[in-house]
Amino acid sequence: MRSFADRVAVVTGAGGGIGRAVSLELARAGCHLAISDINEEALLGTAEEIRTLGRNVCTHRVDVSDKARMQAYVDEVVDFHGGVNILVNNAGVTVAAPFEDHTIEDWEWIVGINLWGVIYGTKFFLPHLKAADEAHVVNLSSVFGLAGIPAQTSYCVTKFAVRGLSEALWVELKKDNIGVTSIHPGGVRTDIAKSARTTDDPELKSQAVEIIERFSVTPEHCAKQIVKAIRKNKMRQLVTRESYLMDFLKRLSPVLPQRMLRAGYERNLIKGA
Ligand SMILES: NC(=O)c1ccc[n+]([C@@H]2O[C@H](COP(=O)([O-])OP(=O)(O)OC[C@H]3O[C@@H](n4cnc5c(N)ncnc54)[C@H](O)[C@@H]3O)[C@@H](O)[C@H]2O)c1
Repeated sequence: MRSFADRVAVVTGAGGGIGRAVSLELARAGCHLAISDINEEALLGTAEEIRTLGRNVCTHRVDVSDKARMQAYVDEVVDFHGGVNILVNNAGVTVAAPFEDHTIEDWEWIVGINLWGVIYGTKFFLPHLKAADEAHVVNLSSVFGLAGIPAQTSYCVTKFAVRGLSEALWVELKKDNIGVTSIHPGGVRTDIAKSARTTDDPELKSQAVEIIERFSVTPEHCAKQIVKAIRKNKMRQLVTRESYLMDFLKRLSPVLPQRMLRAGYERNLIKGA
């Protein structure tokens, strides 16, 4: 997108983490916001900061896995702002558990949020994005959308799917002047690991929390990369060293990173991420 001034940006999961940081970064760049989350209190905190930056903002309590609520969200946003230019499908969760320990309900929960949430958002906002003179869709995938990671099967399934959807849409929507970017961060210091569903194995969750806290970048850093990617109309944006490294290894040999992960998993060095 050439300019962010007075554009309208929709961000899901904007109460905390990357969603909050990207909302603020877009506001700094000149956008007005339509933000949503299941956590209303956190959402109001983000909105307050957007207002202090001098931008208009509307807030919506939305569970992205709820089809009817997502449809209503679109109407509410268009009533308030008159249109939409940028959609950031950000809300996401994880399940830290081996495949064997996932329940079917875990699968339904994560696919509902991480995949159906992105499909609903893109499908329902699309007519309004098409009506704009310039528009962009950002989908949060992950480094786990580049490689299969043990104890993150369901998360990987959703993040690979989000990458596939984004790449196909990048081709399809060019004719409508809509850019599409999938974002692939490694560790970003947010609450995602703390709020993960997990097994009874306390080590699994604490290892994930520790990895995030030790190796990750700030949500603000990630948000800057996202806004830069929109500006440059990139098809995908890698964020953090782990993502660049994984991308490099996968190009070198698709099986090499999996062999390394398997060796670590067999020796119990990696319980999951
Ligand atoms: N943090 C990381 O290391 C990392 C890495 C790669 C990708 N991501 C992706 O970035 C996105 C944001 O994650 P984060 O790290 O900021 O997590 P986070 O847990 O800090 O924030 C997620 C936000 O989404 C909200 N949310 C949860 N379920 C929701 C639902 N059903 N409907 C609407 N909102 C909901 C939460 O209330 C929270 O405000 C996710 O898609 C995640 O998969 C994160």
